[in-house]
Amino acid sequence: MTDLSSIQNQKLRQWVEQNAALCKPDKIHWCDGSQAEYDALCADMVKTGTFTKLDETKRPNSYFCSSDPADVARVEDRTFICSARKEDAGPTNNWVDPTEMKAILHKLFDGSMRGRTMYVIPFSMGPIGSPIAQYGVELTDSPYVVVNMRIMTRIGTPVLDALNRGADFVPCIHSVGAPLAPGQKDVPWPCNKDNKYIVHFPEEREIWSFGSGYGGNALLGKKCFALRIASVMARDQGWLAEHMLILGVESPEGEKTYVAGAFPSACGKTNLAMLVPPKALKGWKITTVGDDIAWLKIGPDGTLRAINPETGFFGVAPGTSMDSNPNALKTLSRNSIFTNVAMTPDGDVWWEDLTQEPPASLIDWQRQPWTPGCGRKAAHPNGRFTAPAHQCPCIDPEWENPEGVPISAFIFGARRSTTAPLVVQAFNWEHGVYMAATMGSEMTAAAAGGAGQVRRDPFAMLPFIGYHMGDYFAHWLNIGRRLPVTPAIFTVNWFRKDESGKFIWPGFGENMRVLQWIVNRARNKAPAVESPIGWMPRYTDLEWQGLETFSADQFEKIMAVDRDVWEKELMLHEELFLKLSDRLPRELPLLRELTMERLNRIAQTPWVPPRG
Ligand code: GTP
Ligand code: SPV
Ligand code: MN
Repeated sequence: MTDLSSIQNQKLRQWVEQNAALCKPDKIHWCDGSQAEYDALCADMVKTGTFTKLDETKRPNSYFCSSDPADVARVEDRTFICSARKEDAGPTNNWVDPTEMKAILHKLFDGSMRGRTMYVIPFSMGPIGSPIAQYGVELTDSPYVVVNMRIMTRIGTPVLDALNRGADFVPCIHSVGAPLAPGQKDVPWPCNKDNKYIVHFPEEREIWSFGSGYGGNALLGKKCFALRIASVMARDQGWLAEHMLILGVESPEGEKTYVAGAFPSACGKTNLAMLVPPKALKGWKITTVGDDIAWLKIGPDGTLRAINPETGFFGVAPGTSMDSNPNALKTLSRNSIFTNVAMTPDGDVWWEDLTQEPPASLIDWQRQPWTPGCGRKAAHPNGRFTAPAHQCPCIDPEWENPEGVPISAFIFGARRSTTAPLVVQAFNWEHGVYMAATMGSEMTAAAAGGAGQVRRDPFAMLPFIGYHMGDYFAHWLNIGRRLPVTPAIFTVNWFRKDESGKFIWPGFGENMRVLQWIVNRARNKAPAVESPIGWMPRYTDLEWQGLETFSADQFEKIMAVDRDVWEKELMLHEELFLKLSDRLPRELPLLRELTMERLNRIAQTPWVPPRG
């Protein structure tokens, strides 16, 4: 057993000592990251009712977990960027003066771990020793967090060894905010219903999270560190921390192209990262490097190199099926944790669309009896699986390469039932930054609050940029200037709907046809036409083998650029720009005006790609 006196890293020892004194846990447990430790924690959670073990033959070494209904998603309105100066957090982040916030937090954390164990989790985001990786240590009173962190990141002894050799780390403090009085019985999902704080101190590079045990609120390596704090480090050090999947595309000739793609939460990163190409596109193959976060650095050879800082997938369960994502289903066949999905009478899991016919009866995500006609969803729309990446059948052979993989193209995707075409290529890097900066998307259940409504979600990073969004745009422009060859930039939209509200594009595996055009464009091997808003394929520029039923007319419907619709869209771009005006790079409003002029001059509306 590790104890405080054996810790050679002074900063670590003092910090754990101080926070143990503040939080007053019954015990401190230093996580070694072993399987035995994982199994013991899971067994404890079965005893306390947090976990239900799933059937060992159907779902080996896997657990079902049901959260408090008041704790089911990230809480963006309780998320704070406490930079020294308000201007540095910018108008898109909640800000409180850091001194004031520290006082609030000290009060909340004082005694917050009473009756519980404080776990110390040393973790690495990225392969240990990689020039792109970073260390963190999370203190938490939640064993659920420990076991999830073990799947999602590299934790335990090897990281502690590196810290003891003097490596620096980002301190992350987490409490579910539910201390236990002597003799008080615990609940299966402790959390604080009234008081949640997800707080970042960008200058000190510190994270404090109180009151929630769920996902990005509690697994602090993920959004808090790998995006909000890392985006600040990346700005200062000249790299990128992004809400992006990373995938490899292999052509029939065996050429490998790596692509990174940003989509807002629950908009298809996991699906795209694990895509199975249609059989008719012979010889094309997709491999997965990551499904949620990418850290990118300019390598010694001038290429942009990306790593996935995580080692697992915390993926949206509902909608995941053998049709939509067979690779994800195979990944979570064992050694996985299922939170807020439904459980079958024989000890397996179920969620909406897993099978066409729902089982005759289930235990729903709140552990209530459920039958098909009962009018409730069996799984919460943000119910998720936690599954080890190495179990993914299409994991890329280079996924743990400490040097990262070279990125040739960026894709920015949004969920838009109107307006945004299936695929558009930016004219150049600056124009790509403009397109990503002005992206709008319909909100999903991944964040607490209103689903469905369109909001600007620049770079799919609105909830995740740890500083002023205008400075973030400027940073992207700067990275482009430093790259000898800039990756090509594209926008995509799988979600355009027809008059009856149905998706026009079949999506999922068929997205391979768009990816094919994208990688060929990145290699200067595919034709395109100039539209008012960027380069686009004509119908004949995409491969239709195996999808001949998708007609040129339908293609026009998902590619059309309507002047009136786009003029309204450009008003929304202006709205965003006004909000960011104190730090907005000058290029962006100029590109908006250029787009406006181009739209004004189209011969007829809607503009559609020429046939033939
Ligand atoms: P986070 O983990 O929240 O960051 O999100 P993610 O981007 O990984 O989300 P995920 O891949 O789990 O998105 C799932 C949602 O996207 C489900 O509603 C899917 O049905 C939908 N989806 C994914 N790909 C497609 C597609 O090609 N077409 C359509 N229509 N829906 C898709
Ligand atoms: C997201 O919301 O973008 C997620 C899930 O990836 S969470 O980790 O809960 O933030
Ligand atoms: Mn995400």
